[in-house]
Amino acid sequence: MRTKLAAGNWKMNGLTEALSELAGMADAAAGASEVLICPPFTLVGAAAAAASGIAIGGQDCHAAASGAHTGDVSAAMLKDAGASHVILGHSERRTDHNERNSDVNAKCVAAWDAGLTVVLCVGESLEQREAANTLEIIGGQLAASVPDGATGHNLVIAYEPIWAIGTGKVPSTDQIGEVHDFMRARLEKRFGSGVGRSVRLLYGGSVKPSNATEIFAVSNVDGALVGGASLKAADFVPIIEALNAASQDG
Ligand code: PGA
Repeated sequence: MRTKLAAGNWKMNGLTEALSELAGMADAAAGASEVLICPPFTLVGAAAAAASGIAIGGQDCHAAASGAHTGDVSAAMLKDAGASHVILGHSERRTDHNERNSDVNAKCVAAWDAGLTVVLCVGESLEQREAANTLEIIGGQLAASVPDGATGHNLVIAYEPIWAIGTGKVPSTDQIGEVHDFMRARLEKRFGSGVGRSVRLLYGGSVKPSNATEIFAVSNVDGALVGGASLKAADFVPIIEALNAASQDG
């Protein structure tokens, strides 16, 4: 049984006052699913101190343990600040910072060395989907971004079609199911069925209270990585509750 995970990615949003939203999420977070919020670096320590029943994560880390990398943050620094997770390979990092699969792979190793659980993002562009290359792209990203040594504890994969992020466009449940079943098969093939079956697979891209229940009913969807709708408890709580209900349904 995989414990379902509702993960929020606050991106570059949130000042100290935003931490009050965490209190509003606490009741829903006490349900059957795990809840994770990834605030900006500046709030990781305060969020970890304030959160009750909510795991806290970073949104990126450097591949090196320490050194002359002005402006970067190491995995051990995140851990030291109270984070248990880190998002890696988000499409905004891949685009804004030219992160390649090999970079994501090296960061993942660093995160595991520091004891963090990685939420590793993959996803195709609209051109790639329209050219019917989605599974090839996802397969390639999984093969090259995920290091050897994955377990159900240290790795979560988030499927985030780039064209669905922040756009209000969501793939059909058939399209989500096709990619999630494919990712499950790839993980089982590479890591064996025990590990392959234990890695949680999240869907991300325009998840909202209005579409969460439908998405959570798709096979091999173990939760969501939520951007905009994770910023406010009023939006994120119904999503957590939909996931708690899906956990009860099995
Ligand atoms: P969105 O972002 O929910 O705002 O579409 C998802 C993400 O980028 O993780």
